[in-house]
Amino acid sequence: MDSTKTAGDGRSPRLAVEGLSVAFDQGGREALAVEDVSFRVERGETLALVGESGCGKSVTCMAVMRLLATPPARIVSGKVLLSGKDVMPLGNGEMRRIRGKRMAMIFQEPMTSFDPVYTIGYQLVEAVLTHEAIDPAEAALRAQAVMRDVGLADPAGLMRRYPHELSGGMKQRAMIAMALVENPEIILCDEPTTALDVTIQAQIMDLLAKLRDERGVSLLFITHNLGLVAGFAHRAAVMYSGRIIETADVEALYANPLHPYTIGLFASVPRLDQDGGRLPSIPGSVPSLPERPVGCKFWPRCDRARDVCREEDPPLEDKGRGHFCACRLVAREGGA
Ligand SMILES: Nc1ncnc2c1ncn2[C@@H]1O[C@H](COP(=O)(O)OP(=O)(O)O)[C@@H](O)[C@H]1O
Ligand code: SF4
Ligand SMILES: [Mg+2]
Repeated sequence: MDSTKTAGDGRSPRLAVEGLSVAFDQGGREALAVEDVSFRVERGETLALVGESGCGKSVTCMAVMRLLATPPARIVSGKVLLSGKDVMPLGNGEMRRIRGKRMAMIFQEPMTSFDPVYTIGYQLVEAVLTHEAIDPAEAALRAQAVMRDVGLADPAGLMRRYPHELSGGMKQRAMIAMALVENPEIILCDEPTTALDVTIQAQIMDLLAKLRDERGVSLLFITHNLGLVAGFAHRAAVMYSGRIIETADVEALYANPLHPYTIGLFASVPRLDQDGGRLPSIPGSVPSLPERPVGCKFWPRCDRARDVCREEDPPLEDKGRGHFCACRLVAREGGA
């Protein structure tokens, strides 16, 4: 995949997040769950946001969608530019008009999107009528068309079904239909396949790629599994302890991961040729908010850590050809 095909068409990125920091109150003291996070997603592009559980992926996503409860969360700083316009200063009413219409989100658990007491059809039609003053019969036809687009057979029959009557894979397709029904510019996908078995997972990934390529919708694809990113995403940003610590085109990241954390993640991707076993790779686990260390957040788990790593958190720097990395020991390409 050539990311230049989707980037740099002279228009603003579909989504640009600039300097986003989000804090939670920890017994009277605030701790940053997301720290100075910046990224952009172009038209028709997929950016994968990767990292172990607890790295701040969901908090980032929820902050962008303005779905975080505040308190306990507090947006400390940051801009969220949707096709060039900062939506951060908008009030809740204006954000409700944008959510679902211009940017949508799909979750790991479809029941986060569906209310168990209403039929799938009612909820899809409501999603349309929230944003558009059209005839309910027309909204129902649109709902059925989008259900067909996501590969659901018998959309008319499914309209009368309740969420619990659908299998896991069907529910996930219905949730994608819900996200697509207003034809948004970008969909934020928060581990949408993690709860599914491997076969259904592959089907949902194929569906997302097809919809992206046919409709030009942009995707922010969150996953803890680097193995899902190859052949699907154009670029990847790796998060650790609330920060983006490496970002590059997917091909460059795969060919030459720079940050010791990313290298560890690659080593722990389950391999088909190793009986599906997981290689032991990164010792320890992501620190909780109050336990995040001073200096590079990764030093307690890093086999290359030096004294300097314990003192200062290294900045995210271009190490050459747009491959950014936040590690003191990684030299710039062609330089010291
Ligand atoms: N409501 C909350 N209150 C306090 N801490 C939270 C809350 N939600 C998330 N966190 C903390 O923020 C950090 C990032 O969480 P999250 O974004 O859910 O991680 P990920 O999605 O990468 O697994 C974690 O340390 C988590 O415990
Ligand atoms: S800055 Fe130091 S501790 Fe952090 S990843 Fe690089 S070598 Fe490891
Ligand atoms: Mg999460």
